[in-house]
Order: sequence, then C-alpha cells, then structure tokens
Amino acid sequence: MRFAALAIVFGYLFTGCAKQDDANSTRGKFVKSLLSKMTMEEKIGQMTLYTSGWDVTGPVLNENYRKDILAGRCGNIFNAHTVTYNRELQKFAMENTRLKIPLLFGYDVIHGYKTIFPVPLAESCSWDLALIEKSAQLAAKEAASAGLNWTFAPMVDISRDPRWGRVAEGAGEDPYLGSLIAASRTRGFQGASLDDPLTLAACVKHFAAYGAAEGGRDYGTVDMSERSLREVYLPTYHAAVNAGAATVMSSFNEVSGVPATGNRFLLTKILREEWGFKGMVVTDYTSINEMVKHGYAADEKQAGEQAVSAGVDMDMQGAVYQNFLIKSVKEGKIPESVIDQSVVRVLNLKYDLGLFEDPYRYLNNQREKENTLSEEMLAHSLEIGRKSIVLLKNEPFNGVKILPISPEVHKIALIGPLADNRVDMMGTWHAAGDETRVVTVLEGLRKALPQCQINFAAGCETSGENRSGLDEAIRLASGSDLVILALGENYVQSGEAASRSILGLPGVQQEMLEKLSACGKPVAVLLMAGRPLVIRWMANHVPAILNTSHLGTMAGEAIADVLTGKSNPSGKLTMSFPRDEGQIPVYYSMKNTGRPLDPANKYTSKYLDVPNEPLYPFGYGLSYTSFGYSELKLSSDHLSMKDSLLVSVQIKNIGQMAGEEIVQLYIRDLVGSVTRPVKELKGFQKLMLQPGESKEVKFILRADDLRFYTSNMTFAAEPGLFRVMAGTSSMQYLEAGFELK
Ligand code: NOJ
Repeated sequence: MRFAALAIVFGYLFTGCAKQDDANSTRGKFVKSLLSKMTMEEKIGQMTLYTSGWDVTGPVLNENYRKDILAGRCGNIFNAHTVTYNRELQKFAMENTRLKIPLLFGYDVIHGYKTIFPVPLAESCSWDLALIEKSAQLAAKEAASAGLNWTFAPMVDISRDPRWGRVAEGAGEDPYLGSLIAASRTRGFQGASLDDPLTLAACVKHFAAYGAAEGGRDYGTVDMSERSLREVYLPTYHAAVNAGAATVMSSFNEVSGVPATGNRFLLTKILREEWGFKGMVVTDYTSINEMVKHGYAADEKQAGEQAVSAGVDMDMQGAVYQNFLIKSVKEGKIPESVIDQSVVRVLNLKYDLGLFEDPYRYLNNQREKENTLSEEMLAHSLEIGRKSIVLLKNEPFNGVKILPISPEVHKIALIGPLADNRVDMMGTWHAAGDETRVVTVLEGLRKALPQCQINFAAGCETSGENRSGLDEAIRLASGSDLVILALGENYVQSGEAASRSILGLPGVQQEMLEKLSACGKPVAVLLMAGRPLVIRWMANHVPAILNTSHLGTMAGEAIADVLTGKSNPSGKLTMSFPRDEGQIPVYYSMKNTGRPLDPANKYTSKYLDVPNEPLYPFGYGLSYTSFGYSELKLSSDHLSMKDSLLVSVQIKNIGQMAGEEIVQLYIRDLVGSVTRPVKELKGFQKLMLQPGESKEVKFILRADDLRFYTSNMTFAAEPGLFRVMAGTSSMQYLEAGFELK
C-alpha cells in the first residue's frame, strides 16, 4: 500500500536542492576563480546553448557551432547523444578551448531515451508515485549512460484543455496529484547526487502556465488571475523546485501580457525570491527572439536585455545573448554583475554534475552497452505499461462479459492502424526511442494467446481518407469471435504544435468503427491517443474500451496482459474526457456558480445540448473486479487549526478477481472569503485486494491541507464547514462533513 502524504505539496517546506552558493564553499571558490579568468565573450558563451542538428543516422554539429565551441562562444549543446559522439565533442572543447570548460549535454528525455515508457499523461494514470519515480530514474540511467547529463523534463504544465497537444507530456488537470508526480519525476531523474554518472539534471518546464493557452492552441496567449496562477498552475513547478530540480525552463507563452521569458515577476520574484530557487534558468527554443513577435521587445537586442534582467541565465538556440549581450553591457544597459550571476549558475551546475572533476564522467562505452535497452529497462516498461491502462467501459455483449478475453474465444480479428504498429506506440517526444524493439499489439497478443487464431488488418490509417482496407477489415471481423480495435492518434497527432479543434478519431477511423460495430460481433476498443478524445459514439455503442494511450517499447505485451486478465487494469484518469469539444474546459474541480445546474430550472448554468459533466471524469477507471465502499468515518466533527482529523473508509473487493483500487479523498470548503471549487483532491491510496478481502483506508487531514489564497492573497485555511468525500472517482464517493474551528 502506498500513501501519498497530504502535507508536502502546498507546504513551503524547502527541502532544497542546490548546495549553497556560498562564495566560501569549495565550489564557490572554484567558480569564482574560474570566472575571474573569463572574458566577457567566454562568459556569454556559457550562457549559450545550441542544438546539434540531425542527419538521417544521428546528430551532427553545424560547422559554425564547432567554431563557436572552439572560441568559447558556446558552452552547451543539446540533441547530441551517444558516448562516441559526445566524447568527440567534449574532447574538442577540452583540448581546444582556452579555459577548458566542459560542455553540458542536454536532451529531451521525457519518457525514456532508447527504451520508451508510457507518455507521461498515460503514466500518471497509474497514480503510482514509486513506479513513476522509477521511470524517471531508469530513463536517466539509460540516457546518462549515453553521454547525457541534463534532461528537459519533467514537464509539469497543468492543463484542462485536451485540444492542447502537449497534455500528453504532463500529468493532467490536477495540481495536487500533478505536484506529487512532479516531485517524483524530479527525484527520479536526479537521484541522490547530481554527480552520479547514472543521473541527469532535471529541468522543470515550461515555466509558467504554458498549459493554459487560450483555445488550447499551442504557444497561445495565457491570461489569468494571480490567484488561479498560484493555486492551480504554479504548485507543480514549485513541487519540482522543492524536490531539488537543478534547472527551470521559461515558457514560450505570455502570462497576462508579459512573455514568460521576459517575466521578472515569474523568474525572479516567485521563482527565486519566494521559492528560493538557486539553480539555472534556460529559455525554451528561441523564446527570447520570439519576444519581438510577441510585441514586447522592439528588436532582439532589447529582448535579450529583457530576458537577462528577468532572470534567464541561458539562451536556447536563439543566439541573442551571443549576438547582442556584449553590446548591452558596454552600453551600460546590463550590469556585468548580472552576467556574472548567470555564469556562476551555469558553472555551478557543471560543477555539481562532476564535470570539472572529470569531463568524461558520463562517457563510458561499457556503461552505455550495459544499460541500453537492458532487461531492467524492458521489465519496467512492461510493468508501468500495464499500470497505466485505464478500463473505461466493460459491459456484457449478449449477456457475456467481453474482457478479460474468455477461453471460449478462438478467433480474434485484431484491426486498426495502431494494431501492428511500432513507431506510434512510442508517442510524442520519444527521444532516441528504438522503434525496432517495440512490441506491437499483434505480437503481444499472439504471444499471450498461442491457441487463438488472431487475424490482423489495419483497415485504415490514422489520418487521411483512404477507405480501401475497410472491406477486408469487415470480412475479418464478421468471421471472428471477438473484434479488437486499436484506434486513436499517431505519434505526431499529439505533442508540440499538435493542437486539434475536433477531438474525435482522426481520419476514417470513426467510420470504420461504426462499420465494424455493425457486424454483430463483440467489440473491444484499445484507445491509443496522447490526449482525452471525444468518444461519445464509441461510449454508447462499444461494450468494452481500454484507454491504453501510447505505452512505449513494451506496449503490445502490456496490453495483451490486460486483455487476457493476466493483469487487472487499475489506472484512473488524470484528465477528464469531455463529451463534446464545446464543453472544454471541463474538469472536476470547477466552481459551483450562483446558479448550479438544476435540470428543472432553465435559468441555471448548463448547456441546452450536452450535460455539464464530462463523459469520464478525473479519477475514473474500472477494474475486472468491483469494489464496495462503506463506513466513511471522521474521528471528530470538528478540526482545530493545530489538530488533525482522521478520515477512514472501508473498501471491499466484491468481485471475483484480485485487483488494485485507487481510493481518493476530496474536500469541499463550503464558504470562503473567495469561492472554492466543488471538489479538491487531498489524498489517495492505492491498495491491492483479494476477492472478498476488505481493508480500512485512513487519511489524515490537517488545517494546512485546507489552505488556499484568501481574499487578501494570504495562503491560509479559513474556519467554517467542509465536506469530505472518499471514493472511487471524483464523481462516485461517500460523503461526510466537519467544521474547521
Ligand atoms: C521546444 C519545447 O517546447 C521544449 O519542451 C523542448 O525541451 C525544447 N524545444 C528542446 O527540444
């Protein structure tokens, strides 16, 4: 049983990462002495990050960048990996530059390097913090063994808009769960010590509120109250910073009129002054330059001045610092002390990574060989894959349950563009993921059910209008005992620059689904997408639906284990599934409004054409067994500001199969100096129960767990009445009440 502590997320317990940047420490003296030898050009070089370009077979460095490294004008490279290649670059810097400052090697290791784990949104559905931390730890191990020392992860942007393609990279809609996951991922990447050659420095992104773009359109405008910013969008970044994240990435978007990359309020006041962040801030790709197009800077030179003054230490790919910062210093627009401060942060990071001690620390061919796609990696990919799957629906067809697949089934038609597909199983941002090692659903199922005849047809593609395969798919379906359909998005239909306005199945997949459903055979859908899709028709007509998303290298095996019942699905959604695009944003922690929904009263807050609630809410997910909830008890009917309240609830496995349940605790603050959401997650526990077994689950609530930004923006709990809800999802629970005195 795992217990998610209630107190740590919104608390201001600074457990802190960074060693003190005390000038008298060994690091402080070393860095100071190095700084004193640097020319202004070399200093700005340390504030510059360039990408290694890509050729068909791997990364290659642009000749100009080589010259920049040589001259000390570029001290950091990203998108360069493998021991051989990175050693070549590091050697180049170490043997040819005046000061021999080692290069930093960054990469987007988001959910794996060569071995791919589920996309982060899918993985968050496991609500399993230990396994999530392990994914980050193993991803770091594999990537660091391939010469990397810095990842641009975790992505912790809260989003309540599935039109935004990047929801795939985060942990969904909720700040409480999102914060715990942000901290777990950070700890996983960084381990106990940054100089461990099996770990990576983390980079929390995208600071801030990148997930709140208007209309879900990537890079779009964000405009919100400071209260929402602090209460909903900032806690995840804060949790990662508290967990010790070494670096932070500023985001592309503007926040209430000021681009994040030039936003002193975010990058200095909140991040450094309030949160005590001591690490390094890097921009997102060319986001300094983009401040010109935002209409915030007249030209790139001014944009660079705005960024460095706001608190940006490193310019990713934009060359603005390289091209203009010296001039800005000469003109007296930027004090040299500001440059020094940023350079110190970059050098501190290199020091903490152990690069000054040994620039080749992360460059060991033997280690790379041992840790790439090792048994350990693959076993974890399988385990976390199984746990990330969410059973959305499982109803009988002609009186017979469809899942798990019954031994009576002898002939399966496995259909869909994602059924025998490798690359799309890896999802968005799959780094250097090795496509050849991906297990497809067809392979997984054939291995799991050797006695079954499994016939495959793609039927159609994930996009386009090609219907030529539909007849073959119908023929196979009609002759089978069970139809399994692998439908959804390909890997570029979610992720960066992949916003969508219509969230149904792309291409002709919906048409194929309807045609195959008409064959009169039982149908189970494997829904594979980087975001919640709008699947109203499917939910009404298809008896069984598993949300598998993009599960990575071992996708096919993990899915086969769940289809056959070797593994009982236990995931719960971390992002609500809308019924309709027009409902967006739809999330569980909405406000009540002054006219909450009353179906009998026209003048209440609702749509004429669609219910208010989502199709599948946050926290929802079924199992092959069932769980009964009873005896919700509170240790008292009141709670004082200093005390704690024990909430207990009895859970029983009332089905036929062992299974895991994620018990969720929500509260509602009935009256506040500002209005409060109808529900807020405050705790959860995941437990395994054998058939017939029951357990009491206990949660502790303290006044600190009830804090929010009050009318005068202090973070405090207010006395008054509260509701407590404990249940199986954000919409199905038992309820009790207490008073905070
Ligand atoms: C742009 C993306 O927004 C960011 O997430 C990523 O880390 C950088 N490019 C580097 O690849």
